[in-house]
Amino acid sequence: MEKWSPGSWRQKPIQQVPSYPDEQVLREVEARMATYPPLVFAGEARRLKRDLAAVAAGQGFLLQGGDCAESFAEHGADNIRDFFRVFLQMAVVLTFAGSQPVVKVGRIAGQFAKPRSSDSERRGDVVLPSYRGDIINGPDFDEMSRLPDPLRQEMAYRQSAATLNLLRAFAQGGFANLENVHKWMLGFISDSPQAERYEALANRITETIDFMRAVGITGDSNQALRETDFFTSHEALLLGYEEALTRIDSTSGDWYATSGHMLWIGDRTRQADHAHVEYCRGVKNPLGLKCGPSIETDDLLRLIDTLSPDNEPGRLTLICRFGADKAPEHLPRLIRAVEREGRKVVWSCDPMHGNTITAAGYKTRPFDRILKEVETFFAVHRAEGTHPGGIHVEMTGKNVTECTGGARAIRDDELQDRYHTHCDPRLNADQALELAFLMAELLKKERAAQPRQAVGA
Ligand code: PEP
Ligand code: CO
Repeated sequence: MEKWSPGSWRQKPIQQVPSYPDEQVLREVEARMATYPPLVFAGEARRLKRDLAAVAAGQGFLLQGGDCAESFAEHGADNIRDFFRVFLQMAVVLTFAGSQPVVKVGRIAGQFAKPRSSDSERRGDVVLPSYRGDIINGPDFDEMSRLPDPLRQEMAYRQSAATLNLLRAFAQGGFANLENVHKWMLGFISDSPQAERYEALANRITETIDFMRAVGITGDSNQALRETDFFTSHEALLLGYEEALTRIDSTSGDWYATSGHMLWIGDRTRQADHAHVEYCRGVKNPLGLKCGPSIETDDLLRLIDTLSPDNEPGRLTLICRFGADKAPEHLPRLIRAVEREGRKVVWSCDPMHGNTITAAGYKTRPFDRILKEVETFFAVHRAEGTHPGGIHVEMTGKNVTECTGGARAIRDDELQDRYHTHCDPRLNADQALELAFLMAELLKKERAAQPRQAVGA
């Protein structure tokens, strides 16, 4: 294998790069960012890898989710809190009903850069560069806004730092204390179809906590009750930004991406001999790899060799996003090849990106297609004897109308009401929680089919 350096990707072919009008300014920004403090620490990334290694071994479940694209305009405490609250609700549903430790990874604090199917967008007679995420250009359809601006990278870095700071405070400063499981209810709109179900579950958790308190285990004495581990992730798409934040960990001498705990490679940029794979292979963080229907079995095995040459469990998560109809065709062939070759991976399901359609002029995703892909994911793993290790969703804590269906049955003609995403349609808080309840049932079934084991054993 050729020698790797944080900049060795620059020698490789690359897809999805913005064309900056002034390369000199870009170089200056990258040089400045290379001197900024890391956003995350290597030890945290190692802890996440350890947690994911347990998932790879069938002990635990990965919950990964957040915005399709974070936005500068919507950066605020309320949005972050609402997201974190519904994320915790999902995690507690999956932990309690599924009796599995849940590894919590947000698509947040760095999820800004977007791959696009076309370099340009036409509206009427006007053709402009496509919007590539707030770290690159702006969503408004005018020339100024769509011009890639390197200074946006520093904005993204600072926004990520502020978001991460609040998330750390929520995770460790009391908000995530399990004794607050009822207080997380406060975010529900009163007629939420999931509220009653959640309250019933929260009551059972409170009863359990009361029992534990009676035998001397309280949040004060027990860190696991009081705090939670929450990690960040994003697509490693804008490689100049990633390179600037790549640092040597002084304790191990290894290179780490410090822009987030986990990075993933998108379905459009996973060519084995191209730049994105080159960059990711050299950092020691846990990695995700999106696998869409076009991935050949041999390509996948080659990518696994490149990205996880030591076959270290927890290093690689395969995020499958085939679409509900195509999953039965593609998932078994990949699972069989990976099993045959003895590769240790986490299998995760992204039921969003293969199920996008257009309705009433909006990009949307029907909830029943999303659910169907998740069910297929669990069924195929059951048939193959492998562990359905995780879920990867685009979601928000807000009451948006971007995906159709769900218990509240959002119709095509209601998409216009609160369609706020900058990019792909997200599950709203109700739909996200509904999905968690449905997955908890599937996890329970998986557990019932296995010999009984102590959690964490
Ligand atoms: C995404 O996760 O937002 C994305 C672009 O996914 P994919 O690479 O799987 O299309
Ligand atoms: Co998306």
